[in-house]
Parts: sequence; structure tokens; C-alpha cells
Amino acid sequence: MDFNFTEEQLMIQDVARRIAQEKIAPTAAEFDASGEFPSANIKILGENGLMGIEVPAEYGGAGMDPVAYVLAMIEIAEADCAHSTIMSVNNSLFCNGILKFGSEEQKQKYVRAIAEGEAVGAFALTEPQSGSDATAMRCKAVKRDDGRYVVNGKKSWITSGPVADYIVLFAQTDPSKGAKGITAFMVHTDREGFHRGKTEPKLGIRASATCEVEFTDYVVEPEEVLGQEGEGFKIAMGVLDAGRIGIASQAVGLGRAAYKAAVAYSRERKSFGQPIGSFQMIQAKIADMKCRLDAAELLTLRAGWAKAQAEKNGGRFSTEAAVAKLTASEAAMFITHAALQVHGGMGYSKEMPLERYFRDAKITEIYEGTSEIQRMVIARNETGLR
Ligand code: CAA
Ligand code: FAD
Repeated sequence: MDFNFTEEQLMIQDVARRIAQEKIAPTAAEFDASGEFPSANIKILGENGLMGIEVPAEYGGAGMDPVAYVLAMIEIAEADCAHSTIMSVNNSLFCNGILKFGSEEQKQKYVRAIAEGEAVGAFALTEPQSGSDATAMRCKAVKRDDGRYVVNGKKSWITSGPVADYIVLFAQTDPSKGAKGITAFMVHTDREGFHRGKTEPKLGIRASATCEVEFTDYVVEPEEVLGQEGEGFKIAMGVLDAGRIGIASQAVGLGRAAYKAAVAYSRERKSFGQPIGSFQMIQAKIADMKCRLDAAELLTLRAGWAKAQAEKNGGRFSTEAAVAKLTASEAAMFITHAALQVHGGMGYSKEMPLERYFRDAKITEIYEGTSEIQRMVIARNETGLR
């Protein structure tokens, strides 16, 4: 692993940092309070290459590598977690899957629109009765004689569902085949048969809009199948390996924001005639936060590097992605909790961002596979047992 970043990687990090500081950080608290989707900021991210970081220039993206993606995601998440969720879904769950498994026509049509910030994408795997156990889905796509598929069923907790233009959908095409009976489809949300439910009220990442979506006799054209029939579950799992690096990066950015705030406050705030940072109990918190933050950042960069190696040489990076996601999300929970405590009563106030960081951190342990599922993936890969 090379610890020196390339000029390109540093350039996209710089672009992300500038937008994060100038556009996102000043508006984050407002968007959190209103729960409004930050459309204008998302457009700016798209116009600056941040919605298609790993998308080749021929499809409208920045044409960079997975490490560049990690660096940019960290910057955006440091300013606001909700913005980075939208960015992560567009980059990793939407563009990445189509680039890997889509036809030339699908890449030109869907990837370009998202990478250039003209449209918003979503990824629909979860259903009301099946989250961790993703193969237990019930949404069905039945093939007609004319080659079209008719979709019926529900998907829940769909990030960007309330605003998405296109969705990568996973549905059962042959329930008797289990994981091998699932197929991926491209959905156009302006078509008949597609319905959005109410936006979910949430603890954190409030500006990232989430809803249930429902399909009633929704028709998919043959050229809108992503990959081959029956390949959908492998596509979902492969895409989630990349997605988990995005969520790990998000957790690092959030942890970094909370950590920096704690260090600054510990130097300024006085108690018993001294800065609180001179008390051993506060120092221990700072040291523990720093260790977890650095471990999370290094493991996330390693996962980005492993993905780049897999792209060159073949192979998977599932373990590295799960290790990074698990470590970074648990670090974000630990750090935001400790940083709030360092701020005392002010940490609990909406006048400071600590309570938002604390609320936002929790989701990183839940979506794109809970911490229990990451442990399962890591242990299965390590032992070869199930
Ligand atoms: N890459 C490619 N193929 C993979 C794979 C991977 N990473 N992981 C598994 N597969 C393949 C397996 O090899 C197997 O195929 P074969 O039979 O041909 O070998 C097939 O997929 C089935 O695998 P498993 O038997 O391991 O499947 P399982 O039912 O035991 O489930 C699981 C495994 C890891 C628990 C999986 O269901 C999982 O990851 N669950 C969590 C779901 C999740 O992360 N959802 C996220 C939704 S999106 C989201 O949350 C977005 C957001 O918030 C913003
Ligand atoms: P369950 O699967 O019901 O799990 C409940 C608890 O049981 C968890 O603690 C879990 O870890 C544990 N558990 C389950 N199985 C096991 C096991 N075998 N061993 C040990 N413990 C286990 N999904 C999408 O498809 N697209 C999205 O865009 C999307 N965005 C989301 C945004 C938000 C804000 C949220 C909250 C969720 C989102 N999800 C999305 C869904 C998310 O991926 C699921 O919530 C997650 O995978 C967990 O599934 P579940 O909620 O059904 O929990």
C-alpha cells in the first residue's frame, strides 16, 4: 500500500474540501432541522465531478480511483453526513454497479446523468420483511412473452427514494432458485406503476430523504435488465462491497469532525482554573478518540486500495470493505459520544453540531449491512465456515 497520494487524488480531495467548507458546512444545521433534500448542493457536487468520482470521463465522471473516492467522501462527511449519504449512493451503489455490469447503452444513459449531477439515483434491495436476510425478498418480476418484465412488490428504506430519477431494483424472477433467482433492473421513476411512500422521519441524516417505494404492474423493457437474469444477488453483493467503503469513509469524516471539535473545546474551556484538556480523564478520551479515528482512516484507505487492486488483478475485496465499515462505524459512534461528553452541556445543545454528529453516527452501524452482518461476512471469509 502506497502512503503517498497522487496529484489527482489530492486534487479531488481539495475540490471536495472547498465545496464542503464553502457550501455544505454552513448549511448543514439548517438542512438537518428542516429535513429538506439539499438539491442545489447535490447539483454542485455533480458539476464538480463528485457524483461520479470513479466514473470514466467518457461517461461524464472524474475518472479517478477508489482511494480518491475515499478521500473526497471523508471531506464531504466531515461537513455533513447526510450529504455524504446521497453522494455515496450515487457513486457506489448506483454508478458502480452499472459500470461493472451494465451495457454500453445503460452506461451512457444512466451513469452519465448521475455523474454529471443531472439526476439522482437509488438502490432498492431491502423490503419490509427482509433487510439483513436480503434473499428473502418478495418483490417479483414476471417475464412476459414479449420479453418485458412486470414488477409487483414493495421496497423499504430507499435512500433518495423521494427524489430519485432512476433506481437499481432487485426482484425475484425465479423464487424456486433462492439467491440465483434474483435479477437486477433499471427503473424509471416517472413511469406508470411506480409509487413513492411518505418520507420516513429519522433520528439522523435528516436531509437524506428515505421512503418506501411500491411497484404495481410496473413494466421493464428487456434492455433495462442489468446484467443477466439470475445474476442480481451477486450484483447486489458486489456493489455493496464498494458501498461499504463509502460508508466507512463517511464514518471517518464524521468522526474527524467530532474529534477536531473535542480537541479545540478541551483547549478553550476552563474548569477548576485549568483548560479541561489538562485533566487526565479528558486526555484519555482524546487519546482513545485519536487511536480509533486513525485506525478507521487507515483501514478505509486500505479497503480503497484493495478495491483498486481487485480492479487491476481480479478478486474480491469483501473482507477489507467489511473490516473498514465495521471499524469506522463503531469508531464514529465512540468518537461522537466521547466528543459530546467533552463539551458537557454545550454538547447537548443544538447551538453546536455535536448532538447532530451523535445522531448521524448511528446509521453507519445499520445501513449497507449492520455491524452484526459485517462480523458475519468477515468471520465467514476468514474461517470458510457458515
Ligand atoms: N460478491 C459476489 N458474490 C457474492 C458476495 C460478494 N461480496 N457475497 C456473496 N456472494 C454470492 C455467494 O458466493 C453466493 O453465490 P454461490 O452460491 O454461487 O456461491 C450467493 O452470493 C449467496 O451468498 P450467501 O449464501 O453468502 O448469501 P446469504 O443469504 O447467506 O447472505 C449476507 C449473505 C452477507 C448476509 C447478505 O445477505 C448481506 O450482505 N445482507 C445485508 C444486506 C445489506 O447490506 N443491505 C444493504 C441495503 S442497501 C443500503 O443499506 C443503502 C444505504 O443505506 C444507503
Ligand atoms: P433486520 O435484518 O431485521 O435486523 C434486526 C437486527 O437483527 C439487527 O441488529 C441485525 O444486525 C440483527 N440480525 C439480523 N440477522 C442476523 C444474523 N444472522 N446474525 C446476527 N444478527 C442478525 N436499503 C436499501 O435497499 N436501499 C437503501 O437505499 C437503504 N437506505 C437506508 C437508509 C436508512 C436511513 C435506513 C435506516 C436503512 C436503509 N436501508 C436501505 C435498509 C438497511 O440496509 C437495512 O435497514 C439493514 O440492512 C438492516 O435490515 P433491517 O432493518 O431489516 O434489520
